[in-house]
Amino acid sequence: MAPRSQPRQRLLFNRLKYFATACIFAVITYRYVYRNPALQLGSKPRDAAGNSTLGFQKIVVLSAGPSWRTRGLEAAAKYSGIDLNIPVQPSITDELIDAFHNLGPNSVPHPRGRGEVRNWLSFLDIIKYIVAQDLETALILEDDVDWDVSIKNSMKLLSDAARKFTLTEKEDRSPYGHSWDLFWIGHCAEPTRNDTRRLIYDDPSAPDPEKWINPPWFPWSNDYMAGLAPGMRSVQRSHHTDCSFAIALSRHGAVKVLKFAGKGEDTQFDTRLKNGCKKKDLSCLAVTPELMHHYVPPAEFGLISSVAEANNRGSRAEEEEFEYVMGSTPNILRSARCKVLFDSTCPATGQ
Ligand SMILES: *[C@@H]1O[C@H](CO)[C@@H](O)[C@H](O)[C@H]1NC(C)=O
Ligand SMILES: *[C@@H]1O[C@H](CO)[C@@H](O)[C@H](O)[C@H]1NC(C)=O
Repeated sequence: MAPRSQPRQRLLFNRLKYFATACIFAVITYRYVYRNPALQLGSKPRDAAGNSTLGFQKIVVLSAGPSWRTRGLEAAAKYSGIDLNIPVQPSITDELIDAFHNLGPNSVPHPRGRGEVRNWLSFLDIIKYIVAQDLETALILEDDVDWDVSIKNSMKLLSDAARKFTLTEKEDRSPYGHSWDLFWIGHCAEPTRNDTRRLIYDDPSAPDPEKWINPPWFPWSNDYMAGLAPGMRSVQRSHHTDCSFAIALSRHGAVKVLKFAGKGEDTQFDTRLKNGCKKKDLSCLAVTPELMHHYVPPAEFGLISSVAEANNRGSRAEEEEFEYVMGSTPNILRSARCKVLFDSTCPATGQ
């Protein structure tokens, strides 16, 4: 018996060996071909725009610490399947604030108040954090920001539009192309006219431009929604974009912004960026109407931004109540914060 069973055992052993090798090969192929987004057969750059960091390498949040703002933001992110990173903000000395306030010659504009300087320096800190990690792209969110429940779909549509508008090559698989330092995803004003070089595209979540809510300091801005209708957005070079609710930076963009905005010389950080984009010191894209906007507590509480707060114009005590009272988000049709916190869409006044 013994001499006959040995070859049979060897045959069985060989078969097992081939089977095991085939299994390992299949696993490796699966991991490298199907799970690697760069090699994914049939996947489109747009698919990455719908991932948990919305097609950027990381989403980082500018936040002075836990509050109703961050708690609402985290709830909305969880609801929308978005991964956020809220780094701890380093402290800023009063001496640095004073020094930054006075940077530059007298002939240039200076930050308005201490709140504006603090906000500006915090932005520079978070951009240094992005640069230190050598991120390909990062989306910076202010912690009171909000978006539509269909944000991932909107980002996919934006990916197609931005790639087309910037004539991105097929081989470049990045969701938004590479022709930008800064991409304004959330802002409060960017005029679009019929003679603007732009790409208009369909996005069912876009609000009625007639009802678009402009910031009180730019009463003119809703006169410049030409050629848009409900369910349409435009992607274009940024001409006059204000408010830094959500701005994406590319790797080289982050380095450029640190240099360009690192020396003050304007009334506030977003104004510095606006002017940099306008004069082409920075290469900027904007989507209009914006995809993200800040959520505001009900009007009876008054509008309290963290900048106003740092200028001693806000009140912390009242803020405790915001958590339980429904606010609203201008220009966002179906607010993710409201959906998750109050099971409502929170239409903003006028919408
Ligand atoms: C989302 O896509 C971007 C761009 O391809 C990528 O850098 C990022 O790592 C992706 N995020 C996740 C969580 O996979
Ligand atoms: C812009 O174009 C649209 C559609 O072609 C037209 O209805 C609208 O009147 C134009 N607006 C201006 C300000 O020219």
